[in-house]
Amino acid sequence: MTGKPDDENLNTSANESFNEVLDARLSRRNVLRVSVGTAGAAILGSVSLAGCGGGSDTTPAPAPAPAVPTPISLAFAAVSKSTADAVAVPVGYTATVLYALGDPLGAVTPEYMNDGTDSDFDNRAGDHHDGMEYFGLNTSGTARDVAGSQRGLLAMNHEALTDQFLHAAGTTPNPRPAVEADKEIPAHGVSIVEIRKVGGKFAYQKGSAFNRRVTPMTPIQINGPARASALMKTKFSVAGTDARGTINNCGTGYSPWGTFLTGEENWSGYFRRGDDEAVRGGAAARGNVSLARYGRAKNTASRHGWETAGADDKYARWDITQTGVSADGTDDYRNEPNTFGYMIEIDPYDKNVAIRKRTALGRFAHESAAFGKLVAGRPLAVYMGDDSRGEYIYKFVSNANWDAADSNPANRITTGDKYLDNGKLYVARYNPDGTGQWIELSISNISIANYTTYDFADQADVMVNARLAADAVGATKMDRPEWCAVHPVTGEVYYTLTNNSNRKVEPASSSQMTVDAANPRSYTDAPTAPASPGNVNGHIIRMKEGSGDAAATSFTWDVYLFGAQADADLAKVNLSALTADQDFSSPDGLWFSPKTGLCFIQTDDGAYTDVTNCMMLIGKPGAVGDGSTPTLSYSKGDGSTVTVQTHMGAKPTPDTLRRFLVGPKDCEITGISETPDGKTIFVNIQHPGETITKANVVDPTKYLSHWPGNAGYGPGGANARPRSATIVITRIDGGLIGADGTAVLNNY
Ligand code: FEO
Ligand code: CA
Ligand code: CA
Repeated sequence: MTGKPDDENLNTSANESFNEVLDARLSRRNVLRVSVGTAGAAILGSVSLAGCGGGSDTTPAPAPAPAVPTPISLAFAAVSKSTADAVAVPVGYTATVLYALGDPLGAVTPEYMNDGTDSDFDNRAGDHHDGMEYFGLNTSGTARDVAGSQRGLLAMNHEALTDQFLHAAGTTPNPRPAVEADKEIPAHGVSIVEIRKVGGKFAYQKGSAFNRRVTPMTPIQINGPARASALMKTKFSVAGTDARGTINNCGTGYSPWGTFLTGEENWSGYFRRGDDEAVRGGAAARGNVSLARYGRAKNTASRHGWETAGADDKYARWDITQTGVSADGTDDYRNEPNTFGYMIEIDPYDKNVAIRKRTALGRFAHESAAFGKLVAGRPLAVYMGDDSRGEYIYKFVSNANWDAADSNPANRITTGDKYLDNGKLYVARYNPDGTGQWIELSISNISIANYTTYDFADQADVMVNARLAADAVGATKMDRPEWCAVHPVTGEVYYTLTNNSNRKVEPASSSQMTVDAANPRSYTDAPTAPASPGNVNGHIIRMKEGSGDAAATSFTWDVYLFGAQADADLAKVNLSALTADQDFSSPDGLWFSPKTGLCFIQTDDGAYTDVTNCMMLIGKPGAVGDGSTPTLSYSKGDGSTVTVQTHMGAKPTPDTLRRFLVGPKDCEITGISETPDGKTIFVNIQHPGETITKANVVDPTKYLSHWPGNAGYGPGGANARPRSATIVITRIDGGLIGADGTAVLNNY
């Protein structure tokens, strides 16, 4: 969602990795520097970084370089920036609404009135459609078909609410009426909905046996190191083995065995905490340190006040104040926040298997989960980011080695147990010279075991408090890591860093951070951006694993693109020299088509919105090291100058980056998936017209958006309340989305 809860300033750790002396690694840097300059050729297989990874790499010599795919070219005319209340796609493409807020999943639930009177969100589409994955079905709809492009399941997140529009006259302040909370709570979570081509066009199938909602009330099993940990014991699960529901689901992942991964992002804000600091042992006690690091310091209000809606347990659970007398927390919800903040795995094809919270992948504000390139006999990597200002980039590496027979297993969720419950979690440190390290978060790491800020009990504690463990090992504070994605040919890993108002040349507090090589920009950008400098428009960083292997512990990096408006200063802001057909701000959603290898970039912006609504671009990137090493120069208050050298990929051209879509007013573009034939994509339009007050909710002339009602979808027409929705995009000539040519990767 736009700003606000994402924009927390919770990382006040002292670690500033670039100040550390890394003498021992200097010789390795020099080797890597040579390699960086030629890494663009890696795609042709001429560069081996084997031996550069240092003693900590245990990986074998890299596999032979991938075959070079026949070049494809972008097959559309760039879409202009726009502030119209409509979805714009290139000439030759069509975009239609598929599944919007409130759409009923079964025949019993009435059609959506969209006037604030609707209820039964357990059986309707939730709000704020976000990350999304397509899962193919065979034509009879009886089983998974990896290549099924006529019929499939869409699994998608419902991250948050535009709560005013869920009620006829907007929201009631605390104490919240139960009838309002009972709509708002199940409007979160996940939808799984069958879609099918009818008359050549996709429609969602009301009444399909696959359709279901996962909500903040759905039972979920805790798996991995934190299962049954003392940290997980609640009144709901005295054994600490189960949790109730999921919330603020943002990015997603598609596992190699055909399950849906969904990340819990800004879950922390849903909990109210009173003044229980003393009863929890004082400010320095472990529980209090943990709660503060995850955004729940004492006397913190909840986002929606559901805990005020009644005495029933389904409301009480949202108050995490320690009120019970038990020593272990089994008589209240003091530990409830420890059961949120995970990557969750759902088998979209099977309602009857327990959903898993995968605690081995760490607890933070999860965005997407991107699997590294699969190599039989080698571990899997899952790349992840933590979206808050100054948070970190993570990688999970499985203990189990990949077995290609697991790509279509009889039991998908136990296949997930095999790969995702046991492994190592790493956090990234970026060095100024274009190298970096993955640092394992292990209780046996002396920096973690002896950390003075927080006394870790065991490995489960390290997973539950991954942010504190990452602080302890000196990870690099990043400009709000959002989604990540893996290039299907090169295996390089891309992360959006959406923006960071706390990136300063001269930090004024411990929650601010200075410019560094990997996060090098701090500037002001009139007129809508705040006057205070920061990384206003965000950037996209990418990494090449040191040995080319998912289990590598070193990497090289550069910045694929710096977001900017096209007319911004080319030396300080628009470093990628974006032109009017490519300029963007606040990259968030990020995905590579396994079919074409093209990169899809989606924005969630508040800085360039005076000129354009949020958008999606399609790019054809090169590889780490194919660009330059510009130096940025800043003047400090005392008149001195500081310089920061960064590493940047080749500047895009009209042939390698174009705007493909612009959304309606006051929305975010997020979530993308495609049919395996590459001819249909699904995109989510989140929270059009989200800026609305209670006073204005009864006056349609005050709405910033009326989409998709104004496009003819659902009731209301030009006066409709706006709705988050999934759109389906196809090419009129039936070709691949965004690409010309028939040469494709067929990575499905
Ligand atoms: Fe839900 Fe960080 O976007
Ligand atoms: Ca976002
Ligand atoms: Ca996001």
